Amino acid sequence: MRTLVVGANGFAGTYLRHELEDNGYEVFGVDVVSDNDNVRIVDMLDPEKAYDLIDELKPDIIFNLAGQAAPSISWEKVLLTMHLNIDISVNILEAVRKCCPKCRVMLIGSANQYDGSKAKDGVISEETPLNCTSPYDVSKNAQEDLVFLMAKKYDLNVIMTRSFNHIGPGQKTGFVVSDYCKRIADLERGKIDTFTFGNLDSWRDFSDARDVVRAYRLLAEKGEKNGIYNVGSGKSIYIRDLIGKLMEASPAAMAKVTLPPRLDDNELVHIRADITKLREATGFEPEHDVFETVKEVLEDFRRGNG
Ligand SMILES: NC(=O)c1ccc[n+]([C@@H]2O[C@H](COP(=O)([O-])OP(=O)(O)OC[C@H]3O[C@@H](n4cnc5c(N)ncnc54)[C@H](O)[C@@H]3O)[C@@H](O)[C@H]2O)c1
Repeated sequence: MRTLVVGANGFAGTYLRHELEDNGYEVFGVDVVSDNDNVRIVDMLDPEKAYDLIDELKPDIIFNLAGQAAPSISWEKVLLTMHLNIDISVNILEAVRKCCPKCRVMLIGSANQYDGSKAKDGVISEETPLNCTSPYDVSKNAQEDLVFLMAKKYDLNVIMTRSFNHIGPGQKTGFVVSDYCKRIADLERGKIDTFTFGNLDSWRDFSDARDVVRAYRLLAEKGEKNGIYNVGSGKSIYIRDLIGKLMEASPAAMAKVTLPPRLDDNELVHIRADITKLREATGFEPEHDVFETVKEVLEDFRRGNG
């Protein structure tokens, strides 16, 4: 089976390439930046270039992981976020319908598409109502609407995920774990004297990126045509506990910072993904412990990532 990973040099794209190679796929990668021969440089915002690439390769499966992935950054880069998160998917589907209409296309949405306040006991299923609180959320909901509209009109074979937070070595800053790991590494190196924490009193569904890309592969293999799937761990993790692991890993540096006072846990909603649909379709179970992953992320920043 021939696969094309779009956004192949990114955080999740890099893990996905390895996951596919390890499972016997022929893997082509494309990105606007590349540090290896397996990832070609093509700007997938250009419809003609996207078409030429897909026409040449005629893949069996395309995974689109290209985009602007940070909700916080979407406020500074509203139009760029819209273009990257919507236009690339449209360019891919336009090319697929013309030159390889049977190709399965995996497109990545986000848990940010949901209205967390409507989650029943904090559990978010694919039926939970959607809402937008940032331009990123608008881009992902618009992507999903357009993808299903085009899939229906042209009888395409797509799968959309709504992916929850994922972490791991290689993640850029702009996300809670990578941001704090970078600051701790900077403290250790003496680049900064201290830093201030934001809100640590949230419960969220975190996964190791290696589990996430395994779920993507399994969905591409076994998911239902035109299905939507949550991708997450199904567990609620307290951000303060993740930070606790980092304090254990770097006690001297953490002595230089003050944790904000703890909120009453009764006031907090323990958000987690309902991954029943993913489990039933693929047999997926998370394998990695995110409390170990945060230590690997810190090590990665100690080695100079970021
Ligand atoms: N990281 C998370 O926790 C998370 C959670 C939910 C959903 N997602 C989604 O998963 C996907 C991948 O996220 P990530 O964290 O790996 O992002 P990333 O920023 O690490 O990777 C995105 C890649 O897309 C590439 N790219 C940008 N413009 C391009 C273009 N014009 N043509 C080709 N490639 C281009 C970038 O160079 C980059 O390598 C995104 O859609 C993101 O919204 C991520």
